[in-house]
Amino acid sequence: MKTYPLKPLSLVLLIFGFSTTVSALDGDAERGQAAAAVCTACHQADGNGLSIPGAESWPRLAGLDAAYMYKQLQDFNSGQRENASMAPFAAMLNDQQMQDVAVYFSQLMPNVVQGADDADEALLKQGERLATLGDWSRYIPSCQSCHGPDNQGAGENFPGIAGQHAGYLQAQLHNWQQDKRRNDPQHLMLAIAERLNDEDIKAVAAWLSVQPAK
Ligand code: HEC
Ligand code: HEC
Repeated sequence: MKTYPLKPLSLVLLIFGFSTTVSALDGDAERGQAAAAVCTACHQADGNGLSIPGAESWPRLAGLDAAYMYKQLQDFNSGQRENASMAPFAAMLNDQQMQDVAVYFSQLMPNVVQGADDADEALLKQGERLATLGDWSRYIPSCQSCHGPDNQGAGENFPGIAGQHAGYLQAQLHNWQQDKRRNDPQHLMLAIAERLNDEDIKAVAAWLSVQPAK
């Protein structure tokens, strides 16, 4: 597999101009709520998603950045993100509806109540290390160096990953490894995902999932 070089963080900050981009979404939460009726079967009425043990994990949308979600819906439609459950629902929405549902879900309160499954103390410690410090012996920067303080997200490019379902977090890291998600600017996430082994993925997903989303 081709290995993508990591860009220095300063360059990353320059490219994305962190707090300078104000989301240019023209969405309406009320219209979004109506269009989101079909979404609640999986993402739940409160937008906090659900994990079915041993099966699919439906992500929390509540409180995620609206512009980030709008981009994800476009990416499902362009095929840069592949998922058989989600693709038909992204395809139902026109551009205005995508903006409306994104604004609607961004305004709901995040509240994922989830245990760390079978994660023991040692695994959680390993996850905390990766999320907050990284592992420079393997060129893995900390998750929070991009995903913001406490991994709560930074602007529209770096989503909050604390308080997200462990099964969903794991699935995304595997999706990058398996080339089912190709939508990250500059391959920033691919460069991370390809350095993580299965144990790392279990660990970091378990630890992040039990941190509160603020
Ligand atoms: C049948 C279940 C199902 C339904 C119904 C559904 N979704 Fe999803 N959704 C998923 C799954 C599964 C994923 C994760 C896909 C993946 O692994 O890439 C997802 C992911 C997403 C994401 C990306 C979240 C992120 O953090 O990147 C958004 C945004 C989203 N859905 C919005 C919607 C909207 C809006 C609707 C209604 C129009 C909807 N979904 C209906 C299952 C569903
Ligand atoms: C160099 C910057 C950078 C670092 C470091 C980084 N990420 Fe990311 N991550 C991103 C970007 C950019 C995206 C959004 C990609 C997109 O536009 O869909 C992302 C998205 C994600 C997503 C998808 C979230 C969602 O809601 O769909 C997960 C999961 C994730 N990262 C996990 C991690 C983990 C775990 C770590 C630490 C081991 C990490 N990231 C470190 C840049 C980074």
